[in-house]
Parts: sequence; structure tokens; C-alpha cells
Amino acid sequence: MTCSLTKTLLGRAFAPAVLALLSLVTGDSLVAQDVPPTQAFAEEPDAIRTGMGVYRLRCADCHGTDARGVRGPDLTQLWAAGRTDEGIFRTITEGIPGTNMRAIDRVRTRDSEVWQVIAYLKSISTPTLTQTHGDPGRGREIFETTCSVCHQVNANGGRLGPDLSRIGIARSVDALRQRIRGDYGKMVDPAYAPTTLTDADGARVQGVARNQDLFSIQVIDAAGRIQGFDKTTLQSLDVSIDSMMPTFTPEMLSDAALEDVVSYLVTLRGHDAAVE
Ligand code: HEC
Ligand code: HEC
Repeated sequence: MTCSLTKTLLGRAFAPAVLALLSLVTGDSLVAQDVPPTQAFAEEPDAIRTGMGVYRLRCADCHGTDARGVRGPDLTQLWAAGRTDEGIFRTITEGIPGTNMRAIDRVRTRDSEVWQVIAYLKSISTPTLTQTHGDPGRGREIFETTCSVCHQVNANGGRLGPDLSRIGIARSVDALRQRIRGDYGKMVDPAYAPTTLTDADGARVQGVARNQDLFSIQVIDAAGRIQGFDKTTLQSLDVSIDSMMPTFTPEMLSDAALEDVVSYLVTLRGHDAAVE
């Protein structure tokens, strides 16, 4: 089957697509030097389908079945954001240090499969970035009065909630809107589980638990104070599954203000944004 296929194809002009197909059949990266691999693969419906399979298995958990982003960024706008095939390949194979984006397992994954995932992502990608319609300057002011108590940006702000210095890279625009409105089920990162305890002297402490083990627990309260306790002496300890983050209803934060805040958040891309 391989032979007759090759013969038919060789009967025609020796097009890059043939090389791509050959490399699919043989499994190695026999791709013409001057043709970016994804472009060659993108011609092949089977490559895209295989890429979709790998994507669903390895990436969908964090980036969403539709790649529009859940616990990871929207991957349908990479090219609109100016990323290159090679840069994306490096991100997937090397990961992003210090984040949940880990390098793909190179032992169990061939380079060609990574290129197929990229071809799949390219096939579903959108030509333009999701637009925000707010005013980032006003959003920043709202953020500083309403959100900074719990969130740090570039080392300023509270520590009860996660640092948002890179949130513009790490989450999609829709995920940000939904998180602020509390639109999806309580998505509490276990690192931020709300905790209430009563210490040995009967004092109540509320905050989020950090660095827990069998015998000790640390709690950061809303004022950013960190206190450590010996678990065996506590009168009560209650770790909840709700989020400490308030749900910002339209009464608390108008639609226009939400759009301003989101427009500000998308500008937060850290210092080391690896945009290539
Ligand atoms: C455990 C969750 C998780 C899994 C699984 C995962 N990612 Fe990610 N990914 C992330 C997070 C979080 C980020 C954002 C990291 C940051 O920069 O803060 C990210 C970032 C990326 C980026 C960079 C986006 C940009 O705008 O530069 C690409 C590309 C990417 N992931 C592709 C993939 C692909 C392809 C897979 C599957 C092979 C995958 N990821 C699997 C969580 C994940
Ligand atoms: C009382 C403290 C508190 C306030 C005020 C607060 N947050 Fe949060 N926020 C948290 C905590 C705790 C988490 C982590 C747990 C979770 O995801 O629910 C969080 C999570 C988030 C996340 C998800 C981060 C991620 O990694 O996905 C975003 C985005 C966010 N907050 C934005 C905001 C914005 C914008 C405001 C102001 C309009 C705000 N927060 C106000 C405590 C707060």
C-alpha cells in the first residue's frame, strides 16, 4: 500500500506535500528543508485529524476541547498574536518554566506528532485576536481599589489570591470574564482553599491554607499576615471548597467596569513573555 501510494505520488510533481506524506508514512521528519513542517502537514487532512487526537489526549484538559482556553490560554489565536510555528514547537517541547505548561513527554511523542498538533491548531485558528472593548487605564484604577487587596501584580498587592502578573498570557479573555463573574463552578485551586481555624487559645483565624502537612499548617489572612499553627493543638480546623474570591455580580461591578478590568488584565504579560 505504501509502495503504490508512493508510486502514484511520484508520478506527479515532487511537491512538498509528497514529502510530508512520506514522512507521515515512515514516521520520521523527511520534510523539505525550505518548507515549514506545519505548512506541509496542513495540506493533509489525516495529519490534522491525528493532531486533533493527540490534542484531545494531551492538551484539552487545560486548554479546553475547543482550544479556547480553560486553565490555560486560548490556543486558537497564537498566529494572530504573532507566534511562529517554530516558537510554538519549542513551547510545546520545552514547556514554560514555573508554570503548569510542562514540556511534552519526548520519549513517548515523536516530533511529527507535535507538528501534527500544531497543524491541527492552525486549522482551527482565528485570524484576529479577541477584542476587549474597555479602557485599560480605568480598568487598572478599578483593579487597584477592588482587587489588589488580594492579588499581586508586579510585586504590589495582597497575597491571599494568586499573583496575576502573567494572567494576560495564562488565561483567555472569556475565562477572565467568567472567573470574575463567577460563571463557572467554583474553580478553587487547592493552593487557595479557604480555611477557618480556632487556635489553642480560642482565637478564630480565617484565610487560605499554605504549606500544610500532617502536623502543621500556615494560614495567610486577608491582611496578608502569615501565621503558623501546630495542628494537634487546634480547637477546630475547617477547610472549605468554596473560593475566597467574591463573585462580582453586575451590581458590584457593571458590565462596562468588567470590560475595563478585563482590558487591563490582558495587558499583564509578565516580564519574560516568550513571544516568538
Ligand atoms: C496542566 C495544564 C496544561 C497542559 C496539559 C498543557 N498546557 Fe499549554 N499551557 C498551560 C498554561 C497554564 C499555559 C500558560 C503558561 C504561562 O505562560 O503562564 C500554557 C501555555 C501554552 C502555550 C503558549 C501560549 C502563548 O500564548 O504563548 C502553548 C503554545 C501551549 N500551552 C500549548 C500546549 C499544547 C499543544 C499542549 C498539549 C500537547 C499543552 N499546551 C498542554 C497549561 C497546560
Ligand atoms: C477577597 C480576596 C479577593 C478579591 C477581592 C479578589 N480576588 Fe480574585 N481570587 C482570589 C482567590 C483566593 C483566588 C484563587 C481561588 C480561585 O480561583 O477561586 C482568586 C482567583 C482569581 C482569578 C483566577 C486566577 C487564575 O489563575 O486563573 C482571577 C482572574 C481573579 N481572581 C481576578 C480578580 C479580579 C479582577 C478581582 C477584582 C475585580 C479580584 N480577583 C478580586 C481572591 C480575591
